Order: sequence, then C-alpha cells, then structure tokens
Amino acid sequence: MAVTAVSTLDLQREANAMTDPLELASHGPVIPVIVLHRVEDAVPLAQALLAGGVRVLEVTLRTRVALQCMREIVRAVPEAIVGAGTIRSVADAESAKDAGCRFGVSPGYDSDIGHACRNMGLPLLPGVATASEVMAANADGYDFLKFFPATAAGGIPMLKALAGPFADVAFCPTGGITADTAPQFLALPNVRVCGGSWLTPDDAVAAGDWPRITALARAATALRGS
Ligand code: 3PG
Repeated sequence: MAVTAVSTLDLQREANAMTDPLELASHGPVIPVIVLHRVEDAVPLAQALLAGGVRVLEVTLRTRVALQCMREIVRAVPEAIVGAGTIRSVADAESAKDAGCRFGVSPGYDSDIGHACRNMGLPLLPGVATASEVMAANADGYDFLKFFPATAAGGIPMLKALAGPFADVAFCPTGGITADTAPQFLALPNVRVCGGSWLTPDDAVAAGDWPRITALARAATALRGS
C-alpha cells in the first residue's frame, strides 16, 4: 500500500475498524519488535520504518519511556499502526490502550489479559509455545497467536506439528528469527506474518541511523515465503 495515498479520514476509519488481530498480518510479512530507550528516537524510528513500507509497529513495554514513545508515534505518525508488546498484566494492557495503541502483544497466554483486552476492545496477539497454551487461548476465542520464542521453542518443526491438531490456528512466530530464516517461516501455511527485532538493531537506533533502518524495513517488506 502506498502510505502517502492514505487520507486522514481513511486512517481514522481504519483505526476505528480494527477488531480482528489477524488484520495485523495484512500489512506486510514482518512486524518489528521495537525497544526504545529515548523518547526522541520514537518518531524518527517510526518514520524510518514507514519509509521502508512497514506500518505495523510493536513497541515493547520494556523501558520506562515505552508508553511515552507510543504516545508520540500515535500523535505524530498517524499512518503507523502502533501496538504494545510485552504485555504481562491487565494493567499493562490498560496503559497501552490509554497510550493510543491499537493492539497488544503478550509473550505468553493469560486468560485475565485475554478477557480484559476483549472487554476494552484492544485486539490481542497472545503468545504461546505449547499445545496446551494454544488450547487455552482458543478456549478464550483467540486463534491468531504469537509463537514465542519461536526458534527456541521448536521453530519450523514445531509449527508443522501444531498444524495437525490446530489446522484453524494462524501464527506469528517471533524470537530468534532473522532476515535469512524468515522466508522459511513465511512459507508455512499456518504462518501469516513473522515478528522480530532485526529491523531495529540497538546500535542503529542509538546512532540515529534511520537510513539503515529504512533499508532493513524495505528488505523485510519484500520477503516472501520460500
Ligand atoms: C520478542 O519480544 O518477541 C522477541 O524478543 C523478539 O525476538 P528477537 O529479538 O529474537 O527477534
């Protein structure tokens, strides 16, 4: 999608309409997992990713400035679809919603968080690493799941194995995936999108090397399953 062709009204409609987390997979093959240590990096980083065609941004709740960074991106970069990663409690989900996030991502599955996100209208991509966790998430109505930590928890063989009993479940594998391995994950029928931090290396963010991040985003946008 040509980001510049999207009108403010279209963006507003889109923001109001998203209820299904699976829509997150419709904007490109990779969702960047972002760690921000300085508020001043938030907007240029988001703009650099957008310039590379990446609209869906997972900003992790791992730093004390994370919520402020989310607010800044939501305010200044309306084309970005900002979500909060590392949601570990209902309070985290509430803070993310307050900051203007349009989705949440949790590293594991917790029913309280699942119910709270549904009640507050925050689409959630919950994490799972085992069949039991898939069943718990399914029981609460979640069928698009983050498979985390993807490489450590069994990688491609595990995703192939989960496709048997859970043929109706889609995954976003995250954790240990690289630009080189992402195509193998994206080739799996039950993988809709991959997550990873390789688009936003710490040293590039610290140096304000936005062209490098745009180049990484552009390369990620072009990835296909193989
Ligand atoms: C995550 O939070 O989802 C992972 O830390 C991202 O994993 P990666 O840094 O190995 O891509």
